[in-house]
Amino acid sequence: MEVVTFATSTALVLLSFLVLYVRWINDRWHLRGLETGTNGSKVPPGSMGWPLIGEFLDFLWCFKFLRKPDHFIAKRKARYGDIGIYRTHLFGYPTIITCTPQLNKQVLGSMTEEGSFSTGWPSSQLIGNSAVAIVDGVAHKRIRRHLMEAFNSPKALKALLITAQPIFISTFEEWASKGKIIAFEEIKTMTFYSICDMLISFKSKDLLDTMERLYRGLMAGIRSMTINVPGTAYHWALKCRKKLTGILLDEVRKRKEMGTQKQDFMQMMMDSTDENGENMSEMEVVENIVSLILGGYESTSNVMTWALYYLAKYPSVLNKLKEEIRGITNQKSKDELLTLEDIKEMKYTSKVADELIRLSNVSPFIFRRVVKDNVVLNGYKIPKNWKVIVWIRSIHVDPDYYDDPLTFNPDRWSDLKPKVGTYTVFGHGPRYCPGNNFARLQVIMFLYHVCLKYRWELLNPEAGVKFQPHPKPVDGAEMYFSHAK
Ligand code: HEM
Repeated sequence: MEVVTFATSTALVLLSFLVLYVRWINDRWHLRGLETGTNGSKVPPGSMGWPLIGEFLDFLWCFKFLRKPDHFIAKRKARYGDIGIYRTHLFGYPTIITCTPQLNKQVLGSMTEEGSFSTGWPSSQLIGNSAVAIVDGVAHKRIRRHLMEAFNSPKALKALLITAQPIFISTFEEWASKGKIIAFEEIKTMTFYSICDMLISFKSKDLLDTMERLYRGLMAGIRSMTINVPGTAYHWALKCRKKLTGILLDEVRKRKEMGTQKQDFMQMMMDSTDENGENMSEMEVVENIVSLILGGYESTSNVMTWALYYLAKYPSVLNKLKEEIRGITNQKSKDELLTLEDIKEMKYTSKVADELIRLSNVSPFIFRRVVKDNVVLNGYKIPKNWKVIVWIRSIHVDPDYYDDPLTFNPDRWSDLKPKVGTYTVFGHGPRYCPGNNFARLQVIMFLYHVCLKYRWELLNPEAGVKFQPHPKPVDGAEMYFSHAK
């Protein structure tokens, strides 16, 4: 018996040494030739984890199994010091993580021509080579100017109000007639219909359902390993993308051939010109529509799901919200839609929207790629061609910047002026989310109409939260939904 115990203990000790040795060798391999940079700077502290998979298992452990995503950064702070910059290997790449307002701002503020970081999204083939989220430098500036012209004008925001509200109102009626819904799924479809109506004026239910299925396939591929073999999510996503591109290209060509002028974003993009009087190419219009829907569809529906979830759990906030909304409706005639002027008066609703967007942390981090030699951040060497993951989530749940950060408390916004770099839910710098006003407006409209006439009750209020791929209630916020009495 003693011999067996001795043999087992020895095997365990040897195994532990082997594990440490393999990880040490992997670290040395990634750091070869990088030990000392300019001015004696070193790569930030951290670990490259296991060969090939790096620290992905630890990421999955914190996000998927423990469901405590903030442990991932907390562990690194505890192990390597609260310096806000660590090396790791994640999602297939050697990577630097930054997680302080200053460092995040420095990375996100950089543009390729003059700066050190370019966009670093995996799966650029799926997003589209001429999509704003993928192109860099001068091309990025050019496409972005077209988008901002189409997106951020008061005319565009008014159009959003007129298009989206009837869709929201009729969807809520449908939910009330169903009685029981899985909010996340229903909201996703509603948001898809409304974003497609605004961007491309598509209204056919059959076509929209087909497109939504293709989009779900595309999303699954963006989150998967880039292995293009039949049967993989990535392979299927490429097919979905091709079909989507085909549908949108047909629409652009049809409009051109027939000289049709529609009141939507596709038209604004087709008609907009740059400083040389050039239009966007057909493919640029199509790929940017694909990426706008990608950027705007799941993110906003996620926040709206959280709205129903938190308001069900915080009745005092719901009551205050209803009070403000009643004040607005009392000034309007029956069934009159919400206007931009009304929204300016809805101070409390605005705070609820900001708090929802902060707590949802739809984008927990942002990817960049290092494109220059000799980049130094906070005295640490940042190797060329490595990825940088700007971990914005950790700032939004840091008690140094937000009191009791995991509590849903819209009133915190009454006297809180976030310091620079501490409210970066929409990013920062040249790639700051062009859909930010769009998203806030949708959340406010949603709150207004849902609180006005309906009530809802979570079926599983203690269901817990899932953080992969985006934070959402485990059961998708299953609920009873009905007319308010
Ligand atoms: C609550 C909702 C939303 C959140 C939290 C969000 C968040 C973000 C963040 C953090 C970025 C910066 C990415 C980077 O720096 O690489 C971004 C970029 C972007 N977002 Fe949003 N977004 C939201 C809604 C929308 C909507 C409604 C649209 C469009 C309909 C949109 C379209 C885009 C696009 C096209 C980019 C890329 C911009 C560029 O690379 O220049 N987003 N978004």
